Amino acid sequence: MGRMTPPELPVPAEASPRAGGFATRTPEKLCVEGVSLRFGGIRALDDVSFTVAPGSLHALIGPNGAGKSSCFNVISGLYRANAGRVRLGETDLTGLAPHKLAGLGVGRSFQNAALSAGSTVLDNVMLGRHALTRGGFLAAGLRLPWTVRAERRHAERAREICAFLGLDAVVDAPVGALPYGVVKRVDLARALAVEPVLLLLDEPAAGMNAAETAELAGTISGIRAELGISILLVEHDMGLVMGIADRVTVLDFGRRIADGTPAQVQADPDVIKAYLGTEAA
Ligand SMILES: Nc1ncnc2c1ncn2[C@@H]1O[C@H](COP(=O)(O)OP(=O)(O)OP(=O)(O)O)[C@@H](O)[C@H]1O
Ligand SMILES: [Mg+2]
Repeated sequence: MGRMTPPELPVPAEASPRAGGFATRTPEKLCVEGVSLRFGGIRALDDVSFTVAPGSLHALIGPNGAGKSSCFNVISGLYRANAGRVRLGETDLTGLAPHKLAGLGVGRSFQNAALSAGSTVLDNVMLGRHALTRGGFLAAGLRLPWTVRAERRHAERAREICAFLGLDAVVDAPVGALPYGVVKRVDLARALAVEPVLLLLDEPAAGMNAAETAELAGTISGIRAELGISILLVEHDMGLVMGIADRVTVLDFGRRIADGTPAQVQADPDVIKAYLGTEAA
């Protein structure tokens, strides 16, 4: 994994593209407060609360069907909660559309399908920078001098992000030609392309073998260490998160059953019961 300085973070709303549009943002705490979500008769989330401290790596874990993805989707604006709020610092994120969240510094991973297989790694990462370009690539199409300059800076930054994730050798390769573990890295690079202060990852290790998973764990803790951003990692596998998380929230049947350091939740009888219960089932 390469090294990357905390970026001159683009602040899209106020920044002037003429000036390059770069400024610094600092991570703020994410508060999930009393969130409930129902699908018909199913309570996917029942009064769930937890806080992701600024700059921390926070894991949200639980057995199958516990509500992890539902919670992820509420935070990332895909689902609207029936009750409760999500706040990033003083900003209320509740019910905001995903593209608005990207502009506020919330980056997220997607499934592979969301990447364009025929496009190069660099082009896919550049797409992630849409949220940061005022006027977007339409303005760039007019070839105004400042848009050309801004676009060049965005491309440079996209290359830097790729290098940081060890993708330098494949930046110009089509995504479709790459092995699975590398594609997942491209997805991460695209999430980082919005210069997030909060990165949301839903089961990033799904489908990976043990070696790829171990490498990914290193990458995720490296992102936190190098960039100082907050990361919320949704994960089924306790093993992956225990070595790298600062704090862990455990869900089971839509309820929060534990919250603490990895050592605390690992020793929690309710957590042990929830996980053993799934294995026995
Ligand atoms: N779109 C949906 N429509 C109906 N029910 C849903 C929907 N999404 C999730 N659920 C239900 O909500 C509950 C929580 O599911 P969720 O996918 O959030 O769990 P999870 O912890 O992510 O599980 P997994 O480990 O399998 O990914 C489950 O009972 C699930 O069947
Ligand atoms: Mg899930």
